[in-house]
Amino acid sequence: MTSQDPALPFEPFKTKVVERLPNPTRREREAALERAGYNLFNLRSEEVRIDLLTDSGTGAMSDRQWAAMMVGDESYAGSRNFAHFESKVREITGFPHIIPAHQGRAAEHLLFSTLCRPGNIIPNNMHFDTTQAHVVHAGWTPVNLAAAEAYDAVSDFPFKGNFDTAALERLLVVEGKERVPLVMATITNNTGGGQPVSLANFTEVARVAHAHGVPVYLDMCRWAENAFFVREREPGMGSRTVAEIGRAFFDLADGATMSAKKDGLVNIGGFVAVRDAALAERLKAALILFEGFPTYGGLARRDLEAMTVGLEEAMDLEYLEHRVGQVRYLGRLLDARGVPFLHPPGGHAIYLDVDRFLDHLGDEDLPGQALAVELYREGGVRSVEVGSIMFPKGAQEQRPLELVRLAIPRRVYSASHLAYVADVVGRVHDRRATIKGVTMTYRPERLPHFTARYAPKS
Ligand code: F0G
Repeated sequence: MTSQDPALPFEPFKTKVVERLPNPTRREREAALERAGYNLFNLRSEEVRIDLLTDSGTGAMSDRQWAAMMVGDESYAGSRNFAHFESKVREITGFPHIIPAHQGRAAEHLLFSTLCRPGNIIPNNMHFDTTQAHVVHAGWTPVNLAAAEAYDAVSDFPFKGNFDTAALERLLVVEGKERVPLVMATITNNTGGGQPVSLANFTEVARVAHAHGVPVYLDMCRWAENAFFVREREPGMGSRTVAEIGRAFFDLADGATMSAKKDGLVNIGGFVAVRDAALAERLKAALILFEGFPTYGGLARRDLEAMTVGLEEAMDLEYLEHRVGQVRYLGRLLDARGVPFLHPPGGHAIYLDVDRFLDHLGDEDLPGQALAVELYREGGVRSVEVGSIMFPKGAQEQRPLELVRLAIPRRVYSASHLAYVADVVGRVHDRRATIKGVTMTYRPERLPHFTARYAPKS
């Protein structure tokens, strides 16, 4: 079922609880920017009109999820909520060993610290910020092996998350399993625009890695959105369910890490899932050390129950049509205003193409950050730079595109909110020639985008 205007995403839910949106004045926004050191991570939520900083842990839970919270069995060991959660993740992924964790990076920490040794190389289609930071922090080398299309903001290639499998093969021939303990595939590719990986491409990734004796893991944060695109775009997939397509990916892999703050539709939660029993035992030992007992993994048991329901709801086709439909709707409105963004629209966000948006600024002007600041200044819209600050030159041979991400929280904002965002972005675009850069006045050692401070260039 769709709405009358085919471009307008039909909300397959109605509202039960509402939250007042803040409405800071221009003067309040200017003062907030100054206090925050022009870093939008330092804003207080009441200073933000529409918050598109992230789609992670910012979604709205359903009535069924809130009801699930009330049947929390808060036993330290053997909680029945863990049993429900374990059986749901087994059903979805087919992996027998399920290790809960409080969020995605905790799951990554468990897996990486268990499998990797000093000097290792970790290939991924594209690392996201905290994943890359984990790899670098441990003294390993992250390598991005996305296909060339990922670096082209204009092309409408349907699977821009795909690996360059020939490059993966070359890397494995040279380095072998001695230096490459695992291959990671991020579905969808967040750093590269929320773009999907095709089943055909992932099949080839798994074949190449396994031929070299190297296990393959999925970063499955947005696996349901990825499956939605595969169903829509990959030949022969249109009649398969999201669950079946997801399972086809999991069947090729040795395990997965999950931030359930995305396609688990919860505000906190995650897990590692693996096939190998001996590895699972080592992961559980690390889990007890860092997160908690294996039947709660750093979460309240009610959180596990909400995740069980959320994982199921994320596979609902009507929900996904609305979800991806919202991103496309925002893309359509921005196209109509002539605003350049990475095409095609991704699964969870629109990524503004800063190189074309602010073509009068150079790298030294930190144009992504300058644009994010302007969007906030203009209309209280909070976004995030995904460019040369988040991914400094040097960590990778080829720097990802210079982007500003407008991430859409799940089931939170309406079409009129998106129209407001498009208008704010459009107004900033209309006056783009007047926008100046920013300079960084404080650079922290690691993950600079979270805590850096800036000053506007005069
Ligand atoms: N992997 C990917 C692809 C992610 O996008 C994220 C988080 C993580 C791992 C880590 O998960 O936050 O639960 O520890 N991405 C968020 C974002 C923060 O804004 O895209 P986490």
